[in-house]
Amino acid sequence: MTAARHASVWAVGSCQTCGGFVSYGSMPAKTKITLSTLQARKRERRKISMITCYDYSTARLMEEAGIDSLLVGDTYAEVCLGHETTLPMTLEHLITIAEAVRRGAPSVFLVGDMPYLSYQICAEEAIRNAGQFMARAGCDCVKVEVDRRLAKTVEAMATATIPVMAHLGLKPQSIQTVGGYKIQGKSAPDALRLIEDAKMMVESGAIALLLEAVPAEVAAIITERALVPVIGIVAGPDVDGQVVVFHDMVGYGGGHPPRSVKRYADLYGTLVGAFKAYAHEVASGAFPAAENSFAMDQTELSKLRRGLSGGDHAGDGRAGV
Ligand code: KIV
Repeated sequence: MTAARHASVWAVGSCQTCGGFVSYGSMPAKTKITLSTLQARKRERRKISMITCYDYSTARLMEEAGIDSLLVGDTYAEVCLGHETTLPMTLEHLITIAEAVRRGAPSVFLVGDMPYLSYQICAEEAIRNAGQFMARAGCDCVKVEVDRRLAKTVEAMATATIPVMAHLGLKPQSIQTVGGYKIQGKSAPDALRLIEDAKMMVESGAIALLLEAVPAEVAAIITERALVPVIGIVAGPDVDGQVVVFHDMVGYGGGHPPRSVKRYADLYGTLVGAFKAYAHEVASGAFPAAENSFAMDQTELSKLRRGLSGGDHAGDGRAGV
């Protein structure tokens, strides 16, 4: 095992040779969460938990924590790649991430987020691209940001056996046309239009809805009327489930989050503290200590020294090594 490999795995055991970490922990198999599970949750009024997830290691933690559903969101462009919007995200990149997340969380309901212009151009492209999330990454459904203008596309995807989650309300991929990140459906006519759009999506075959930045009352009406599970983000408590962005909920991004974000951890502070401690210990020589290094067998070391002094190395023995 190389040092690099050791550094990149979550370890549960030790290498017999060097004592380093070697293996992936085997997680107890969990019951797979399917669309039927989510439908039953809605019927039984038991809430669904969903978090965005962008890598294998975090997916493992979320699977272990019993999160129901993971969304491989195009917010990756913002929180992991540092872009201002989600628009630069590519299909291929998101599928690679979805594959990794599925490896880390085999039992969750996995949602693949279709990036900008991967479904808006025509239904045929939408089906072909969605199929990659399903067939290659093992997603349970794909999410598209829609309104009534894309109802035909949703219908075509559903007909092609693609399970579609329709994302309504604030649609970050349309941010340039909407003019900013604002709550949607605040006036009665806007709310009515949103409720009608939600109805059209369900009638077009969407298997679930996701409402972003919608007044709690409007989200409650849609949830009450929709026969499919409704997930909310900044949509109040009366939806069937909640989704949050990983970096926001664990305080990974630093700064002051918007009022609507609830922080469950301060990873920013914890990690900056850890990096500072490491830098300090490297500077002071406290790291690595004896237990972080491997010593050579003394007999072998003596032989090595003899070999170096009697060998054909020039000068002080360093040249050519
Ligand atoms: O891409 C994403 O992470 C999302 C969530 C904000 C719902 O769409």
